[in-house]
Amino acid sequence: MTGPLPIGSAKVVLLAVHFATQADLDSLSSLTAQHATVLRQDLVLRILLSHLPETIKPDLYVPFVQALVTDEPETQPQPQPNRTLDTTAVDALTNDQASKKVKKLRLVQLSSHDEVPEEETDSLTSFLLLRGYRMDEEAGMLSQLPGLLTPFLQHSPTIQTWLVSTVLPLLRRNHEYYPQKLARYSLLEFRNLPDRLAVEYLLAETGTSEDGYSLLGRDFRGLIGPWLYNNSRWMQESVNDSSGEPSAEATLSCPGWEQALEWLVLQASRSWEVALGTIEQWDGPEDIDLIDNVNMWFQEPQQRYLDRSYAQAALASAYQIPNATVDALEGAYKICIKITSLMDQDCDATLQAAASALSPVPPFDDCSFSGAKTATYMRNDLLSASNTLTVPNRGTTSLLIALVLSAFLLTRTGVAYTVRRAGDLAFLQDAREQKSELTKLIRAVSGHPSRKDDAYWVRARKEILWLHNWGAPSDPKVAGSVRGVFGKVSSEYIEMEILKALLSCSRYVLAQSLYEDAEEGILSATDIQSTVQSSALAAFDNASNPNRSRGGLKKCNEIIKAFPKTVGKDLPVAKRIEALLKATHALSDYRLVLKQGEPFSPVVLRVHSDPISIIERVLEQNAKAYTRLQEFLELGNNMVNAGLPTSNQPGKGLSLETGQDADRSTTERRIVAMCIEAALREDDFETAYSYVVNRMGTSSTMTGEGYDDEWSWKAAMDAGKSARSETSQKPTHLGTASGNPEIRHLEQRIECLATALRIAPPNQLQEILKTFRRCEEQLDFAIKEEAAKEDAWDAAGDLRNLPGAFDGPDPDKAYPPRNITASAAARQADESPMSLFDLSRATARVASKNLNALSSLQGIAQGTTQDPAQPQSAEEDDQDNHRVRKRDQLREAATGTLVSGVSWLIGANVNRTANDGQQ
Ligand SMILES: *[C@@H]1O[C@H](CO)[C@@H](O)[C@H](O)[C@H]1NC(C)=O
Ligand SMILES: *[C@@H]1O[C@H](CO)[C@@H](O)[C@H](O)[C@H]1NC(C)=O
Ligand SMILES: *[C@@H]1O[C@H](CO)[C@@H](O)[C@H](O)[C@H]1NC(C)=O
Ligand SMILES: *[C@@H]1O[C@H](CO)[C@@H](O)[C@H](O)[C@H]1NC(C)=O
Ligand SMILES: *[C@@H]1O[C@H](CO)[C@@H](O)[C@H](O)[C@H]1NC(C)=O
Ligand SMILES: *[C@@H]1O[C@H](CO)[C@@H](O)[C@H](O)[C@H]1NC(C)=O
Ligand SMILES: *[C@@H]1O[C@H](CO)[C@@H](O)[C@H](O)[C@H]1NC(C)=O
Repeated sequence: MTGPLPIGSAKVVLLAVHFATQADLDSLSSLTAQHATVLRQDLVLRILLSHLPETIKPDLYVPFVQALVTDEPETQPQPQPNRTLDTTAVDALTNDQASKKVKKLRLVQLSSHDEVPEEETDSLTSFLLLRGYRMDEEAGMLSQLPGLLTPFLQHSPTIQTWLVSTVLPLLRRNHEYYPQKLARYSLLEFRNLPDRLAVEYLLAETGTSEDGYSLLGRDFRGLIGPWLYNNSRWMQESVNDSSGEPSAEATLSCPGWEQALEWLVLQASRSWEVALGTIEQWDGPEDIDLIDNVNMWFQEPQQRYLDRSYAQAALASAYQIPNATVDALEGAYKICIKITSLMDQDCDATLQAAASALSPVPPFDDCSFSGAKTATYMRNDLLSASNTLTVPNRGTTSLLIALVLSAFLLTRTGVAYTVRRAGDLAFLQDAREQKSELTKLIRAVSGHPSRKDDAYWVRARKEILWLHNWGAPSDPKVAGSVRGVFGKVSSEYIEMEILKALLSCSRYVLAQSLYEDAEEGILSATDIQSTVQSSALAAFDNASNPNRSRGGLKKCNEIIKAFPKTVGKDLPVAKRIEALLKATHALSDYRLVLKQGEPFSPVVLRVHSDPISIIERVLEQNAKAYTRLQEFLELGNNMVNAGLPTSNQPGKGLSLETGQDADRSTTERRIVAMCIEAALREDDFETAYSYVVNRMGTSSTMTGEGYDDEWSWKAAMDAGKSARSETSQKPTHLGTASGNPEIRHLEQRIECLATALRIAPPNQLQEILKTFRRCEEQLDFAIKEEAAKEDAWDAAGDLRNLPGAFDGPDPDKAYPPRNITASAAARQADESPMSLFDLSRATARVASKNLNALSSLQGIAQGTTQDPAQPQSAEEDDQDNHRVRKRDQLREAATGTLVSGVSWLIGANVNRTANDGQQ
């Protein structure tokens, strides 16, 4: 057994330094054991700190340090007395030299370093801290620090706090979680970062790549959570109460934690998957990953603060998600689920389930959620304790869930919505905005692929109604409080919009069962009627084909018949639309192009300022269409019945009934005129003529307001002016008229002109009369010529009666067969042509005859009466007198107009007389 080395204490110190430098811990250990009085604990720690290379793994010297600092003798390292220590390093030195060297050693001090907190005077703690920082700085051995520190956790709370709140987060961040990232802070740099920057650094790589999305929770659990276990990172602002005493409820805060929450909310607005992933993967501030055998707890107020602020940040995140997609909203809902479960509330397991259940949202306690202020809470001060939307409680979570579900229902249907937008709609309570959004939603439902499925509609309606009031009728007690994103729109309006959509998608049976058969009478009959009307017209306006058995018109037809109990056939609305359909359908038979190359579409009929003029286009574009006068008259009649603007004098204080009747006859006259003009255009004088004689003059064109018919007289006059041509249509029958086509044509023209005279306004009479007289002269001439020819024929003795005379008169034949012989006609034509004086005499006669009907004017008329009882039948049965009768008829026809145009009779005399005098 050898005793302690017989050397001086200076040499012992130098030898210890030597062993430390060599990392020869066995020798150091023996030396320490042998010279415990020289090599005291602090000195050895300083020697280790100063000279043991930082690269040495802590396992190699931790047992020595443990032994060194342990007071109990039995754990003292066994001195190894028989060990022969190699003292050659100091052998050559004298004791004086050794003492001088020791003085120059400059061993590191254990206190008053930046690295060591002021209050930590314990030398082991200082040693560990200093050693730790050095290992990181000099050797990059951060990852070895737990090996150095864990054996001493029991020794000092400072070490534990340091390991957990500083070393561990940085170690994980730099070496375990994101080892590939090169820009790193050292331990010392990290420690010196202000709290917010430290947290920002910890989260800098979190969620930056999609591969990392599954590791978001890990980062909060492993980085942020541990970092919080350092009371220096917490602040306690004592809030003075009124007495000036610090109140018991001090306001805690932790800026670094707030930074983390702000990060979370920011992620929600940038990439919601990161926010969602974090919230889903992390079970909140109680879910923290420390290291084995370390248990740490927050103080009760700290835990409360963490839980509450975390929930608030999660709620705020849900409001921040900017993506209006089903996925994003499902994400927002998952956030709600997570938070409610952390808060021990429950809600439906999935958004889909919530959307199926559509449970009523429990009413909110007060009006704190209404108004523009609430809308700003979705944007500002999200994490502030005064934010009534995000402060977690039962009301705010159920409100958020309602908004998420609302946005989801809208988005799923096709109207993209974020939570915040749904919030704006609900909070701002702008009825116009809500209506316009409702319209979009219903349009989306109508355009949905399942729109032909009644079940889909039932579902969609339920959802829309839920969006109206969140499943519960509003409580009048809390008027103005938030209720549904369509809360400001009346339920009648909503139901009417739904009904319209149902009709536009041809869900007639469903519409009927919902709105007509339902017991509760969701909509009044008037509401249904007006909705049906607008829907029918919408379908009509959307139609492209005027055929009522196709497309839009078919739909229009179906719609007005969809509610037989509420919208019966006799309802004026139904009648009008039926007339409209008939009118439109009538046009479907014709080629009809209104503008350049654009085929007629039904809506044109409704918006046209003068729909009757469309008939004119039909007549122009369809040869021979004018022959279908009756159809056109019916069409016009239907236009009137449909309430289209057919009259040029709308209103005029007439009752609807009378107005329509007047309108109807005006329209009829106009159509007749159109057909006449069309016939003339197509050189079909015969048809024009027959329309003039059969269709005109049956009723007066005078109304209380004056002439409302600028067409009839003109058509009649045009017919009267129409000269015969080679291509003229041949008459199809002769009737009792003259067999000579020339004569017959002139006679017919005179008839037309006579009709024109009767119905024309006074200022046109001159013109017509001129034509009339010219025509009359031509007729006289023709008759005389005919008579001459006939006499010549008679003289030739070749008078025959040809069979089949009436079937096919040939105008080119010199002597066509006829019923009335030209000679008979000529005999009667001995009289001079009817002059204007005759005409006016006859006029006066006829006028007086009919004036009885116009008693108020009788006095005036009587003044001009010569023979009121002029017999008309005296020579009636005499066939030879046919022509006379004819002329009388013409006169009567011509003067008939005077009966109706009494004003002319009275007022125009001056002008007429003057003109007559000249001629
Ligand atoms: C002395 O050292 C030798 C080898 O170095 C060892 O074998 C022996 O057991 C030691 N004796 C004591 C008493 O420790
Ligand atoms: C606790 O946090 C403060 C502030 O960040 C820091 O200066 C101190 O070093 C930390 N304490 C420990 C033991 O890590
Ligand atoms: C609270 O009261 C203390 C002493 O009464 C005072 O020093 C401190 O400034 C007050 N703090 C606040 C926030 O009013
Ligand atoms: C969500 O919206 C943001 C901003 O509008 C966009 O940058 C991001 O790519 C969107 N995320 C997804 C998953 O669509
Ligand atoms: C309008 O017509 C188009 C095609 O003609 C049709 O697809 C559409 O559904 C119609 N819209 C309505 C509201 O009837
Ligand atoms: C033509 O005259 C014959 C006898 O003269 C008469 O029987 C016949 O009815 C007349 N035709 C017409 C169409 O009036
Ligand atoms: C007579 O004729 C003139 C001009 O042609 C016209 O201005 C005037 O109104 C007419 N008188 C009557 C009573 O029609």
